[in-house]
Amino acid sequence: MVYVRAVHVLIAGVLLYAPAPAASFGCPPPERLRRLLQATDNGEAPILLLPCCYDGLTARLVGLSGFNATFMTGFGVSGASGYPDAQLVSFNEMLSAANSVAEGLSSAALERAKYGDAKEGSQPIAIPCIADGDTGYGNAINVKRTVFGYARAGMAGIMIEDQVAPKRCGHVAGKSVVPFAEAVKRVQAACDASRIAALFSCGKGISRDEYEALFGQGAGPLILARTDSLVTDGFEDAIQRCIAFREVGCDMTFLEAPQSVAQMEEYCQRVSGPKLANMLEYGSTPILPPVELQKMGYTMAAYPLTLLSASIKAMKESLNLIKEGKPTYDKILSFSETKDVVGFTKYAKEEEHYKC
Ligand SMILES: *[C@@H]1O[C@H](CO)[C@@H](O)[C@H](O)[C@H]1NC(C)=O
Repeated sequence: MVYVRAVHVLIAGVLLYAPAPAASFGCPPPERLRRLLQATDNGEAPILLLPCCYDGLTARLVGLSGFNATFMTGFGVSGASGYPDAQLVSFNEMLSAANSVAEGLSSAALERAKYGDAKEGSQPIAIPCIADGDTGYGNAINVKRTVFGYARAGMAGIMIEDQVAPKRCGHVAGKSVVPFAEAVKRVQAACDASRIAALFSCGKGISRDEYEALFGQGAGPLILARTDSLVTDGFEDAIQRCIAFREVGCDMTFLEAPQSVAQMEEYCQRVSGPKLANMLEYGSTPILPPVELQKMGYTMAAYPLTLLSASIKAMKESLNLIKEGKPTYDKILSFSETKDVVGFTKYAKEEEHYKC
C-alpha cells in the first residue's frame, strides 16, 4: 500500500513536470523549489512570491492562500519570540520554528487537497520553504550542521549570509561582514553539506557529497548565499562576493539592501543564476511591483516583514480598543473564521471520519 502510494506520487511528479502548479510536484522539497526557479527563469511562470512565515500559524496562512513557496524569516522568528533580529535566538530555536513551519505547511496542503479549493485529485504536497540560516551559527562546521538540521526539518532551501555573528537585520545600522575569503568558505561549506548535483559545474575539486549521499539525489537543500557587504565594503565588493558564491556552487544569490533601481539592475545583469529581491517595506531598497522585478531579472520576491508587521498593527489597535472599553469587532475575524484558520474545521471532519 505504501509502495503503491509512493509510485503514484512519483508518476504524478513526472507527468506534471515544470509548468504545473507547485502543489502537484511529487518530489522532494528542494527539487520542487528547483523546478519553480527554473520555470520562472525560463519565463514559463511569474516571479516566485515568498510571503515570509515564522511559525505554524503563519505557515498555514501562506499555504492556505495558494502561494507556491515561502520563506522562514529570522526577523519574524525573533520578533515572535520577543526579540529583535540580532541573533539572540539560537540555532535550536530557529530549528524548532522550522519544524513548526513544516508542520503548518503540511497541514495546509492536506487541508487544501481534501477539503479546500485545490484541483480535483491533486496531491496534498506542502509548498517548499527556504529557511533563514543567518550566519550558520558559528564557523563552517556549524554552517554544515545548520544545513543538515534544516534539511531534516524538510526545508527546501537554506539562506547563509556573510555578516559577523551576532548578525542583525540587513536594513538596520551597525552591520559588519566577515572577510571575503571567509564568506566564500561559509557558502562552500553549506554547498558541501547539501548535495552532489553541482559537482561537475563547480569543479575545482569541491566535493558536495554529504546530504544527498545519505538521503538521495534531489534531497539536498538549495543554498541561497546572501551578502550584506554593500554598506560596509561597497557595491562592487557585494557583486564580487555574489560572483564568488556562484563559483563555489550556490544555487541562488541575494545581494541584500541595494539602495537604487540602478544597483538592482546591475546586480541582475552581472550575477548569474536565480536572484532574490527583498521587499522590506520602509527599508533601504525600492519596493517595486513583482512584474518589474521579474523584468529586471529577479527570480524571487520575498516579503519578510509584512505578516509580522500587519499582525502587530492589528494587535496594537485591538489592545487600544480593549483599554478604552470599546468593542473590537472591526479589528478581528468572526469566531468561525478564526477556528477555520487554526484548523478546527478540518479537525471536526477528521474526528467524524474516525468515529467508532
Ligand atoms: C503559482 O504558480 C502558477 C504557475 O506558474 C502561477 O500561475 C500562479 O500565479 C502562482 N501563484 C502565485 C500566488 O504566485
